[in-house]
Amino acid sequence: MTDPHLTIVRHPLVQHKLTHMRMQDTPTPVFRQLLREISQLLAYEVTREMPVTARRIETPLCPMDAPVLDGPEPALISILRAGNGLLDGVLELIPQARVGFVGLYRDEATLRPVQYYFKVPENLGDRMVFVVDPMLATGNSSAAAVDLLKQAGARSLRFLCLLAAPEGVARMREAHPDVPIVTAALDDRLDERGYIVPGLGDAGDRMFGTK
Ligand code: URA
Repeated sequence: MTDPHLTIVRHPLVQHKLTHMRMQDTPTPVFRQLLREISQLLAYEVTREMPVTARRIETPLCPMDAPVLDGPEPALISILRAGNGLLDGVLELIPQARVGFVGLYRDEATLRPVQYYFKVPENLGDRMVFVVDPMLATGNSSAAAVDLLKQAGARSLRFLCLLAAPEGVARMREAHPDVPIVTAALDDRLDERGYIVPGLGDAGDRMFGTK
């Protein structure tokens, strides 16, 4: 049965790249490159409903009405810091997008999000808003980021992640049932530290080589 709230991109290219990202010995530059590639494949899915309009153009053979993207430039919102790993690839695909950042860190004791930065494009309510964060774990920071974006006027949101835990999907479904999630995989569970299992470890550390 299809779930309108959760799309798992089971394409073989996505799954192959994800497997290599999960491997603990994959070096940082390879991890980063795979993330860039996979982000574009996931972006293809999450942008499926972007509006298009017909524009009159001339091909070398004849005039035609051809589809082009319509509406104000979409907003890509990266949840710092790991979101930036997904952001780069998506931005290559949609270079006209406007970009915002939400800085939240996870209090390791409570696993609750604490905000330290918020800067988003103007007129958020008129734009399609794509929130990017590789790991949907507890869902607390994702739900909090979407709360902030809605307070800033966002109305049409999509959430793009690389891996999701059932707990994170449930949290998002409860807090933001109007926000569809696109991911490459739904893993088994969270461990006691809030890591996704089997997962790939700390996405930020792996993409930035901080450990
Ligand atoms: N954030 C990560 O980077 N990894 C996890 O497994 C969970 C949250």
